[in-house]
Amino acid sequence: MKKIAIINGPNLNLLGKREPEIYGHQSFDDVLDELRPRFPGMEIHYFQSNHEGAILDYLHDIGFGMDGIILNGGAYTHTSIAIADAIAAISTPVLEVHISNVHAREAFRHHSYFSVHCVGVIVGLGMKGYELALQYFNE
Ligand code: DQA
Repeated sequence: MKKIAIINGPNLNLLGKREPEIYGHQSFDDVLDELRPRFPGMEIHYFQSNHEGAILDYLHDIGFGMDGIILNGGAYTHTSIAIADAIAAISTPVLEVHISNVHAREAFRHHSYFSVHCVGVIVGLGMKGYELALQYFNE
């Protein structure tokens, strides 16, 4: 059984309600309900926080014992050297996901502090990005 963690950062607790024209109408609980049965061989853990330190603590706690981490750091992607350092520090590979196409949005969203430390980046494919990330770790 592969152990995978999905981490969503700030404001992603509001998925389904937040700017649905950008982020869609589905809550992440609904997304997880769809994804878990599609990957029966995977133990999918989920963590969401609006707090940078809480995301750091979670990465430190799980980052040496998982098969993969799928991280949508939300706005911290563009600001947090501390989370970037944590991704570099842990041994579990991290795949960066963004629901929206950050490169087609404001310039401040074009740079990620995380990408250089990640195995890959999936951007702009909506919730499908999480499924593709799980597929990657499932192989
Ligand atoms: C996001 C893109 C970020 O720029 C933004 O701050 C988010 C969500 C995405 O999934 O598209 O909160 O990470």
